[in-house]
Amino acid sequence: MSEQLEPIEWSESYSFGLPDIDSEHKSLFAAIERLRPANTEDLGGDIEVNIAIDFLFNYIKEHFDAEEALFIQTDYPLVEKHKRAHEYYKKAVATLKEKVLVNRKEAVDDFIPIAVKWLSHHILEEDRGYVSYCKEKGVGLKSRSALD
Ligand SMILES: [Fe+2]
Ligand SMILES: [Fe+2]
Repeated sequence: MSEQLEPIEWSESYSFGLPDIDSEHKSLFAAIERLRPANTEDLGGDIEVNIAIDFLFNYIKEHFDAEEALFIQTDYPLVEKHKRAHEYYKKAVATLKEKVLVNRKEAVDDFIPIAVKWLSHHILEEDRGYVSYCKEKGVGLKSRSALD
């Protein structure tokens, strides 16, 4: 019998009160949750895992590109630091993509806690930083339509 795990999901504590951004962040958590079957013994085939990883890979690229486009539009001063954080996560997903070919369960087991910790910290610190900046300046957020 497999143990019952807490779902990996967005919660109100991550809310910026901005539907577009909040909904994208929900999808980022959901994309990690979708990898879960791969780290149990009896669920998830290689095909499903590869689809889930490809979804995660493409989604973060779109989300990060949209944020980075907004930084240019708003002259956000911490753009380089924020981009480095995005690069870190993109690399972690790229590494996962390679490691699942060797040992799917181990690769996903290693990735999930790192991904959850990174995403939580990133939203609460770095994303909150740019959202506050944009709110303060009154720029960017209304016209933002990432992933439309
Ligand atoms: Fe974000
Ligand atoms: Fe970000």
